[in-house]
Amino acid sequence: MADVVTQRAHYSPPWADVSIIGIAGSSGSGKSTLSHAIVSKLNLPWVVILSMDSFYKSLDEESSRKAFRNEYDFDSPDAIDFDVLVDRLRELKAGKRAEIPIYSFAKHAREKETTSIYSPHVLILEGIFALYDPRVLELLDMKIFCEADADTCLSRRILRDVEERGRDIKGCIKQWFAYVKPNFEAYVEPQRKVADIIVPRGVENRVAIGKTSLSSHTFQLTYGKVMVIQYIERKLIEKSK
Ligand code: C5P
Ligand code: MG
Repeated sequence: MADVVTQRAHYSPPWADVSIIGIAGSSGSGKSTLSHAIVSKLNLPWVVILSMDSFYKSLDEESSRKAFRNEYDFDSPDAIDFDVLVDRLRELKAGKRAEIPIYSFAKHAREKETTSIYSPHVLILEGIFALYDPRVLELLDMKIFCEADADTCLSRRILRDVEERGRDIKGCIKQWFAYVKPNFEAYVEPQRKVADIIVPRGVENRVAIGKTSLSSHTFQLTYGKVMVIQYIERKLIEKSK
């Protein structure tokens, strides 16, 4: 009986020690695609992607009208509800379930419903400001910056916003030059400095997301050849020791 009690006291479920990977980068740089590539290549049962899109603040009526005219700045850190994000991350880190808001890009608003996330083995937090808030940085185990040329980002964004987010081309371009581009330079790009690794050309980078077996000698976090999967696996092993 005493044994059972001792075992229980020492039992630590995997979800009580979630590892959080932050992936930042420009809009259209391939953060979501890179996150999905990581999920499919990591040999782990429970890897969840949490998009920072879920944490856009609700808008009052006037701001909402501006948003529909592509005149609202969604690329300033002020647009994100970091307090709620930090609370949810802390809940997940503590092994608890977290209620995540659902965001509609077409409506520029939060839906009434939320969705639940149970604390996974690995949580991927992806968003333009994933490496921005010091409270979030403290909770991250790994920090990745996803990079792509600005013309690649803009063209990807136009196609996606028109196909999936209910936007028109003129509006996309207006928003890009008024807010997305200047704020990338002011707030998003500086996050490169706190990243552990930088993935050039995002998900098109077959070397970075490949799973080629390399010796530790060749496992270098160089600018040109980043082995994302190896990096994550290595970090997870180190952590479990
Ligand atoms: O997926 P991605 O990283 O591109 O999402 C972030 C982008 O979403 C931001 O650059 C912001 O301009 C845009 N956004 C928007 N409309 C909203 C909320 C965010 O266009 N209502
Ligand atoms: Mg995205």
